[in-house]
Amino acid sequence: MQILENISLKPFNTFGIDAKAKYFSSFTTVDELTELLNSRLTTHDSRLILGGGSNLLFTKDFDGIVLKNELKGIELIKEDDEFFYVKAAAGEVWHEFVLHCIKNNYAGVENLSLIPGSLGAGPIQNIGAYGVELKDVFESLEAYHIGDKTIQTFSLNDCAFGYRESVFKKKYKGQFVILNVTYKLKKHPQLNTSYGAINEELERMHAKELSIQNISQAIINIRSSKLPDPKVVGNAGSFFKNPVVSKFRWHVIWEQYKNISAHPVGDMHYKIAAGWLIEQCGWKGFRKKDAGCNPLQALVLVNYGNATGKEIYDLSEEIIISVKNKFGIELEREVNIV
Ligand code: FAD
Ligand code: EPU
Repeated sequence: MQILENISLKPFNTFGIDAKAKYFSSFTTVDELTELLNSRLTTHDSRLILGGGSNLLFTKDFDGIVLKNELKGIELIKEDDEFFYVKAAAGEVWHEFVLHCIKNNYAGVENLSLIPGSLGAGPIQNIGAYGVELKDVFESLEAYHIGDKTIQTFSLNDCAFGYRESVFKKKYKGQFVILNVTYKLKKHPQLNTSYGAINEELERMHAKELSIQNISQAIINIRSSKLPDPKVVGNAGSFFKNPVVSKFRWHVIWEQYKNISAHPVGDMHYKIAAGWLIEQCGWKGFRKKDAGCNPLQALVLVNYGNATGKEIYDLSEEIIISVKNKFGIELEREVNIV
């Protein structure tokens, strides 16, 4: 377990931002993690737990220690008539875990195919896509409390999952290291094709049957056609959350813009596509030096090569202001700003 000094974080974040970490190390066991957390460097400096770096924006050099999670292992721990309970270490790559489930006919995570990053970061923002959220398959997780030096178990209720939210994103931010997560996966799949584009893609694929394998492939195809590949163009997926507004506010906007992209949430609210709001403000395809707004999906901010985190952040700030001025809605960033 080596502690490196003054290293570039460029290979460790999907935005490809060339910020530096004062110290950098990785851990493959809980003992290594605790040793690093107790080391002289770590107790005096700030620390950042890093997974795949796919939901982070480094706006400056990190004046502390970055600890990369390399905990590995996937285990079927029990099963009953309805479920397989699968426990996986936080450093597993999320999509590889999904493929493992699909291969073994563990149903429930197929709609979450191809989301980048580590398994342990999934609960932080309750990852979601194509009609499914992590909370739908979540059983429990174990996390190390940095202050107390204890391992604590969190149930579904303890995590207080919401839309791209959990206790780990705000209330307990920086206090816990998620070590492993146990998922509850169905033996008898309940397939979810409610997101329109899935059925269209299944037809285009000439899929002979509705199965978790085919749904996963359909989602991989849709995502690959829409979202820029971070290996080609730096990005962190959706930069902002889709805002949830009152039915009244939605109606006021709808009266002026009949093409508004939104859907009801309960009886009194609407979730508006932030990509639509940003596009209406003229940002889609915008580029200033190497910081830009993706021409295919305006919700994704991109680094065309050498943008700094500050340049991407400043662009996000300009977008927030213009959406606020035009629609009276304040966008909230989904990406974690460091
Ligand atoms: P990181 O970026 O490394 O970390 C994110 C945050 O979690 C940081 O604050 C970090 O300190 C903290 N953290 C990470 N691991 C731990 C741990 N073990 N314990 C405690 N804290 C930890 N997200 C979706 O929800 N749905 C999508 O459809 C989606 N699509 C995306 C598409 C693209 C092209 C990209 C680039 C991103 C997308 N994302 C999506 C966002 C991202 O993939 C997820 O948020 C993912 O869970 C981040 O994982 P990570 O390991 O890369 O986290
Ligand atoms: N739209 C526009 N212009 C754009 C982009 C989108 O008008 O430039 C409108 C279109 O009407 C489109 C609608 O927005 O139909 C929704 O777009 P899309 O299906 O691409 O989904 P999204 O709302 O932009 C969300 C998640 C994604 C997730 C997809 C699929 C958030 C913040 N984002 O995106 O998650 O993969 O749905 O479920 O909820 C992420 O969190 O990083 C992420 C990529």
